[in-house]
Order: sequence, then C-alpha cells, then structure tokens
Amino acid sequence: SATLPLQGKKVLVTAGPTYEPIDPVRFIGNHSTGKMGYDIADQAAKMGAQVILISGPSNLAPKNNNVQVIRVVSCEQMYKACHQYFATSDVAIAAAAVADYKPKHVASEKIKKSDADFTIELEKNPDILASLGKIKKQQFLIGFALETENEIEHAKQKITKKNLDLIVLNSLKDEGAGFGKPTNKVTFIDANFNLEPIELKSKEEVAADIINKVINHYA
Ligand code: C5P
Repeated sequence: SATLPLQGKKVLVTAGPTYEPIDPVRFIGNHSTGKMGYDIADQAAKMGAQVILISGPSNLAPKNNNVQVIRVVSCEQMYKACHQYFATSDVAIAAAAVADYKPKHVASEKIKKSDADFTIELEKNPDILASLGKIKKQQFLIGFALETENEIEHAKQKITKKNLDLIVLNSLKDEGAGFGKPTNKVTFIDANFNLEPIELKSKEEVAADIINKVINHYA
C-alpha cells in the first residue's frame, strides 16, 4: 500500500482547557471542549503520524488508534508532559486553552465559607508554547491565537515572541467560531507573515487544512 504523507513523523498536540486547583474540590477553568485539538490529532494520525495528544479535562476521546492520549489537569502537568515528549517530536501543535493564571496557594482542605468576602491571589502560569519555541530545533511549531482587537498585529507578534512557524488565528467576530461550536473561521499566518484567510468550515475541515500545512512543510 502507498505510504501516507506523515508516515514516520511524530506529532505532539495539546488540547482542552486546564483546571487550576483552588482547594481539593474547586478550580479555575474555562469552557474549552478540546474538539479542535482532538480533530487535529485524529487528522494527523489519519495521515500516518504517530500522535501524542496531551489533553486537559475533556469528555472527548480520539477516533484514531494511532493517537496516544496523555491526560492532565493543570498547566503545570501539561507543561511537564509537553517537555517530556517535545525533544523526540517532529511537529508540535498547541491547541489547548491553557489558564493564564493559577491560585498562588492551593488549600489542602476544602475552604470553609464564612460571611466575609473572599479573595484568591493568582500568579502567572508558564507559557507552554513559548517554552517549546525557546528550545525548538527541527520541530515545526504551530500555535493558536484568539484575539478581539488588532488581531492580525497581535498574532504576528505572537509568532515572533513564541518562535512559531505558523499561527492559526481564530476570528471571534465571525458567527460560528470558537468554544463549543462545531465550526471555526481562521486565518493562517506563517513565519514570513503571509496571511491566508480560510472560509467558515467544520473543525474537522480546519484540522485537515492545518495538517496539510504540515504535509506541505515536508513535501
Ligand atoms: O498568548 P496566548 O495565550 O494568546 O497564546 C495562545 C497560544 O499559546 C495557543 O497555541 C495556546 O495553546 C498556547 N499557550 C500555551 N501555554 C499557555 C498559554 C498559551 O501553550 N500558558
């Protein structure tokens, strides 16, 4: 049988939200379902890649048997798992909606309510994608950007700051794009700042477009 275009390639994908613990029963999280990342992982596997999918909490499961899922909860856990697998990866695609901040102190017991107001002090989480960009060698590195203003300019800055080869810019202004939706409206921006707007598509089709970018890189 004919060899698939990503045969022999190792692809690392992050997906889903992260949950940052406050105490044993509470966390700070977001509404990411993980669908975009799971679709990317499945598409890469369909094209012959060996895929490691590092997923935050999600109800989804990959459809393809060549996707190995590493389940994590917090940004710190996702960071460690990414760094464990990055060196041997050919491609890394960061589709996770990582929490930007985490509680500075995690209570070991459930925090009791009182009549007083309550404040949680937050500290910055590490930027996983930027940390991979810093140590990248052969890897083709893809990130996502979700902006509400000056989106192209901010996305370009992100390419430079995080040392990316490609960014997938999510247009929030477009109906049908974003969290929990089956469709996405994206613009690709490469390291030379070439812009390629894509029409509204299913997330499966956007995943196929992203994986085609990877295939073209090796073609
Ligand atoms: O800087 P911003 O959060 O907009 O960048 C989004 C991109 O960076 C996404 O690809 C996301 O997966 C990645 N990211 C990350 N670790 C973080 C924050 C974002 O890998 N702590």
